[in-house]
Amino acid sequence: MKNFLYYTPTRVVFGKGAENDTGKLIKECGGKKILIHYGSGSVIRTGLLDRIIKSVHDENIAFVTLGGVVPNPRLSKVYEGIELCKKEKTDFILAVGGGSVIDSAKAIAYGVSNEGDVWDFYKKTRVPSSSVPVGVVLTIAAAGSEMSNSSVITNDATSEKRGCNCDLSRCKFAVMNPELTMTLPEYQTESGCVDIMMHTMERYFNCGENSEITSVIAEGLLRTVIKNAKILLQDPLNYNARAEIMWASSLSHNGLTGCGNDAGDWACHQLEHELGGMFDVTHGAGLAAVWPAWARYVYKNSVCRFARFARAVFNIDIEEDEKAALAGIDALEAFFREIKMPTNIRELGQEVNQGQIKTLAYNCSFKNTRTIGSVMKLNVQDIENIYTQASK
Ligand code: NZQ
Ligand code: ZN
Repeated sequence: MKNFLYYTPTRVVFGKGAENDTGKLIKECGGKKILIHYGSGSVIRTGLLDRIIKSVHDENIAFVTLGGVVPNPRLSKVYEGIELCKKEKTDFILAVGGGSVIDSAKAIAYGVSNEGDVWDFYKKTRVPSSSVPVGVVLTIAAAGSEMSNSSVITNDATSEKRGCNCDLSRCKFAVMNPELTMTLPEYQTESGCVDIMMHTMERYFNCGENSEITSVIAEGLLRTVIKNAKILLQDPLNYNARAEIMWASSLSHNGLTGCGNDAGDWACHQLEHELGGMFDVTHGAGLAAVWPAWARYVYKNSVCRFARFARAVFNIDIEEDEKAALAGIDALEAFFREIKMPTNIRELGQEVNQGQIKTLAYNCSFKNTRTIGSVMKLNVQDIENIYTQASK
């Protein structure tokens, strides 16, 4: 087992009615005047925003609101939020929504408490030195941003989608009522399930040392998400299935499924981020579209791990490692199809030409200055090959 640091300072309040205590939670964090940040309207339609405002009002906390965050949240909205928070002198940001709203809130929080252009933190030319506190009422189980140290923002001027990883942005609290996710469209529910699985799989597949307990936690999490993603296809109002998926979303990206493992791979996330920046695709669906091509390209470097995945997650009973590894990849692909997720870029709804593939690969390799991934270090040509394979 490798040395590791596990830091999860987020207070989780989980279950039915949890959102009614949001005002109290903000008060305990010292919030006196807050920004309530939300997306493109679901929280208005479901009445959640009104309930949150009441809860905040009941605690005599002053607030301003800023909606309009879109999936693949935009830098222009972040700038708008920073300006508003500075003008209104807010001291806490409450995100009511999913990964996009939380990530936008985290970016605003950096921008308010640090000088200069917040985009520098996403370009990785500077690191934040402080952050305004952020809390969240989660409405979709997917990105895991409610407990992660990440924020992913798309620069609408350049179409670059980039992440900033920093513990300063870890949410003070995460309110998670699985019932709030029952209004999700099926596509968002199932995309979320893919993203949750991928956060564990990115940590699971590597060529180095692994911890047995972490591997078993990861396999159990993957089996649980697979089982409940199928249940939700038939029965979207199933509370227990919603709850299992929601808790999995946090556990999958708070570091737990990487403790003691060699560094994660994360190539599929980098490949997806370029697709998201160029075509504005749904993150989880974009991951499903690149994973099979990535897996078949790299599995030979980590045959044992892929074979273990096949046996432990899909119960594949094949003795020879390479055959088991390939059967596991087929099984995950079949699962993606079963939950109506794409298994390549065409099924994602994008026709990508050779020129676009070259641009995607060039940008993904940061203009041919970096490799991505750890199972196989992928250079610009490998990345291009994978995008090409995923586009067939
Ligand atoms: O904007 P509204 O109207 O709320 O609609 C949203 C949005 O259209 C809708 N939705 C959310 N909750 C709903 C609902 N509709 C009905 N009922 C509800 N209860 O769902 C759509 C997707 O929302 P979004 O927040 O974009 O989803 P998700 O949580 O998947 O977040 C995706 C973003 O997170 C980033 C992704 O790249 C993407 O930009 N990620 C963030 C990570 C992190 N910060 O740790 C890690 C991930 O790997 C990921 O990169
Ligand atoms: Zn993700």
